[in-house]
Amino acid sequence: MRNIVIVGSGYVGLVTATCLADLGNRVVGLDCDEEKTESLRRGAMPIYEPGLEERVLRNRQADRLFFTSSYREAIPEAELVFIAVGTPAGAVGQADLHYVEEAARSIAENIANPLTVINKSTVPIGTGDLVADIIRQHARCPVPFAVVSNPEFLREGSAINDFMHPDRVVLGSTDRGAAETVAELYRPLKCPILVTDLRTAEMIKYASNAFLATKISFINEMAAICEHLGADVKLVAAGMGLDRRIGPAFLDAGIGWGGSCFPKDVRALVNMAANHGAHPQLLRAVTEINLDQRRQVVIKLKQSLGGLRGRVIGVLGLAFKPNTDDMRDAPSRDIIALLQAEGAGVRAYDPVAMDVARKQLDGVTYRADAYDAASGCDGLVVVTEWNEFKQLDMGTIKRSMRRPVLVDGRNIYDPEQMAELGLVYWGIGRCAPVPEAPAS
Ligand code: UDX
Repeated sequence: MRNIVIVGSGYVGLVTATCLADLGNRVVGLDCDEEKTESLRRGAMPIYEPGLEERVLRNRQADRLFFTSSYREAIPEAELVFIAVGTPAGAVGQADLHYVEEAARSIAENIANPLTVINKSTVPIGTGDLVADIIRQHARCPVPFAVVSNPEFLREGSAINDFMHPDRVVLGSTDRGAAETVAELYRPLKCPILVTDLRTAEMIKYASNAFLATKISFINEMAAICEHLGADVKLVAAGMGLDRRIGPAFLDAGIGWGGSCFPKDVRALVNMAANHGAHPQLLRAVTEINLDQRRQVVIKLKQSLGGLRGRVIGVLGLAFKPNTDDMRDAPSRDIIALLQAEGAGVRAYDPVAMDVARKQLDGVTYRADAYDAASGCDGLVVVTEWNEFKQLDMGTIKRSMRRPVLVDGRNIYDPEQMAELGLVYWGIGRCAPVPEAPAS
C-alpha cells in the first residue's frame, strides 16, 4: 500500500486514481477546480466512462480514494505524486505546458518528505527534465526527489479495462530506484514493464499515437484508391490484418481520427520535429489525409444532390467515437462546419453527446432519435458508429427521407442491402461512384 496523489482529475487522472485505489493504495485525487472536487466527493462523475462511477464509489466507501483541492493537505503525506493535468495545443500546435509547470511548482512548494514525481501527461520531449528543474528551484526545503515519465495509453470508453490490462507499462527515469518504486505499483497487472531514460519514455508515447494515426490514414488512403479501382477496403483490411506483422487493429477506414489525443499529439510531434530541424513529411501527409476524409463526405453528398445550398442533412453521431460524449476534435465538427459552409441545414442525433454539442456547435437542430434526425432529410451521414445505428430499420429511414442519400462514414452497413432498399449508398472505399439521387 502506497500513499499516492494524482494531480488532475480529468480523464487520465481520474481513471488512474481510481484504478490505483482499486489495487489497494491510498489515493488522493487533487484538482484545483473546487467545484469538480466537490462533485466527485458526492459521487458525481465529470466524464462519461463505462465502469468508472461504481469503482469510484467502491473505493470511496473502502476509504482508499479521496478528493481535495489543497496541495498543502495532500503533498506532505505522499510518497508518489502523479502529474496528470491537461496539455492543450498551443497557438501553432505545440503542447501548452502551463498546467504541468503550475503543478510542478505547487508540488515543490509543499514537498516535505522524499518524493517520486511521475509524469503521466503527454508532454514534449524534455519536459521531465523541466519538471525536475522547477521542483529544484521552488522546493521550500532540500528534500530528495526523483522524476519518472510514465505515459498513459488509455482509450476513452475502455479506459478502466486498458489500465487494468495494459499491453505494457513504460517508465522513464535515470533514477533506477524511483523507476523500481513505480514498477512495484504496476506489478499486480502482470504486464511487461519497459524501463528507459526520461526522453525515450516521453517519445514512446508520441511515436505510439503517431503510428496508430498513420495506420488509420494509411487505410483511408487505400480506401480512396479502392473507390477509384472498384475494390472493397473492408475486405482489403481483413486480408491485410490476417498478416501477423500487420494485425487487424486500427484498420477501419472511415471519416478519420479525432479525439483528445491523436490530433493534438500528431500536431505537437510535427511541431517539435520541425523546430528541431527534422522533416516530418509522413506525419504531415497523415494529417492531410485525415482532413480529406471529412471533405470527401461533403463531396459525395454534393455529387448525389447536385449542390448543398438549401438541402437538409441529417448527422448520426457527434462524439469522436462511440461510448463517450467527448467532442474534442471530433470529425463531426469539421463535417458540420463544411456542410454549413456549403449552405446546408444540419440536424443531428447522438445518444450521449448532444448536451456537450449544444454548448459547442452553432446552427444545428437536435433530434430525439436517429429516425427523427433522418426524416425529411436530403442526405444522411453516419459519423459515429454507435451500436444503435447498426440496428436501425433502414427501410423506414429510406421512406422518411426527402432524397435517399446515405453516406456511411464508418462502413457499418452492407452496400448491397442498402442499394436493394433503394438508398443511394456511399461507403468509404467500398464502391464505385454512384449516380445522382432520384428526387422523391
Ligand atoms: C487514443 C489511443 O488509442 C490511446 O492509446 C491514447 O492514450 C489516447 O488516444 P482514444 O483517443 O480514446 O485513444 O481513441 P481510439 O479508440 O484510439 O480512437 C481514436 C480515433 O481513431 C477515433 O476518432 C476513432 O474513430 C478513429 N479510428 C480508430 C478509426 O478511424 N479507425 C480505426 O481503425 C480505429
